[in-house]
Amino acid sequence: MASMEGLIGLMNRIQRACTALGDHGGGGDLPTLWESLPTIAVVGGQSSGKSSVLESIVGTDFLPRGSGIVTRRPLVLQLHQTDDGSQEYAEFLHMPKTRFTDFARVRQEISDETDRLTGKTKQISPVPIHLSIYSPKVVNLTLVDLPGLTKVAVEGQPDSIVQDIENMVRSYVDKPNCIILAISPANQDIATSDAIKLAKEVDPTGERTFGVLTKLDLMDKGTNALDVLEGRAYRLQNPWVGIVNRSQADINRKVDMIAAREKEREYFESSPDYAHLASRMGSEYLAKLLSEHLESVIKARIPSITGVINKTIDELESELDTIGRAVATDPGAQLYTILDLCRAFDRVFKEHLDGGRSGGDR
Ligand code: GDP
Ligand code: NA
Ligand code: MG
Repeated sequence: MASMEGLIGLMNRIQRACTALGDHGGGGDLPTLWESLPTIAVVGGQSSGKSSVLESIVGTDFLPRGSGIVTRRPLVLQLHQTDDGSQEYAEFLHMPKTRFTDFARVRQEISDETDRLTGKTKQISPVPIHLSIYSPKVVNLTLVDLPGLTKVAVEGQPDSIVQDIENMVRSYVDKPNCIILAISPANQDIATSDAIKLAKEVDPTGERTFGVLTKLDLMDKGTNALDVLEGRAYRLQNPWVGIVNRSQADINRKVDMIAAREKEREYFESSPDYAHLASRMGSEYLAKLLSEHLESVIKARIPSITGVINKTIDELESELDTIGRAVATDPGAQLYTILDLCRAFDRVFKEHLDGGRSGGDR
């Protein structure tokens, strides 16, 4: 377990180092390295509850919100679990020296950094914003928040935006290493869900899709979502998770996350329809489920990731030989960082594999 946490942590650091290197021409197989690492992408229609689900998983309010298209660049969110009692803080890759402890400022910076690239328009950009959150409350996870799928362009947007958003989302969910968190609102027919429609196309067997059903509290009285939650309406390999996020009224009244989670738990426990599923519902359960899944995916991928890591180590070494090991240029320094991380990754992998073997021998 300890070494598994180490793996997710190292994976996060390699992802950040690869990104910091940016479009530096060299680095050999770095794009392949990045793509061999699993991530979780949050996918769904506009206002389906994507940002609310992300905030519940993190347990903190930090995302810009509002009606319409708020998320206009991908947000790559890395969660790092820290020791009990330590203070929660956030860091952006584009501001490496600033530690944010005020999450209202994190929200403002996401919004400002979005505008820096897109202008104060309703345009979108595929260039991700990278945010790390360090907190004793989170589980180790990497999640990507994406613009909501939409069917029509609004005032001030080019008609191509509908397709542009879909292409951007696809560029994440197409990758075989992407775990799809498909968000659908319970107060709409599941057959019309944008998230399920896309997930069905790119993951027809449903092995890397997690179905999340939000807004259970907003369903018409006398109806329930058991057909979906029990896997009859649309079958996935992973269990469906039902969620009750804060309503807009809750948000306006500044109901905090702890109160919201408590309310969600009560909702499931006291519901005549869902009480028998209560232990497998809600945002806390979803966070745990995803973290465990991510660990098992990494475990299963160890052999193929090790292959890419070893190839990357070889390529980085020969590239450093070419540019000269003494140079202290930024790209050179970054290559060293990645090389070190790859070696560390390789060591942890080997320990993990050896640990498994010697355990079996005894
Ligand atoms: P996004 O556009 O997909 O990121 O959706 P948001 O998370 O911003 O949610 C859109 C609106 O729906 C907000 O006003 C939320 O308060 C509300 N909302 C989201 N999930 C739920 C839910 O489970 N129940 C209720 N009552 N409202 C929700
Ligand atoms: Na929204
Ligand atoms: Mg959103």
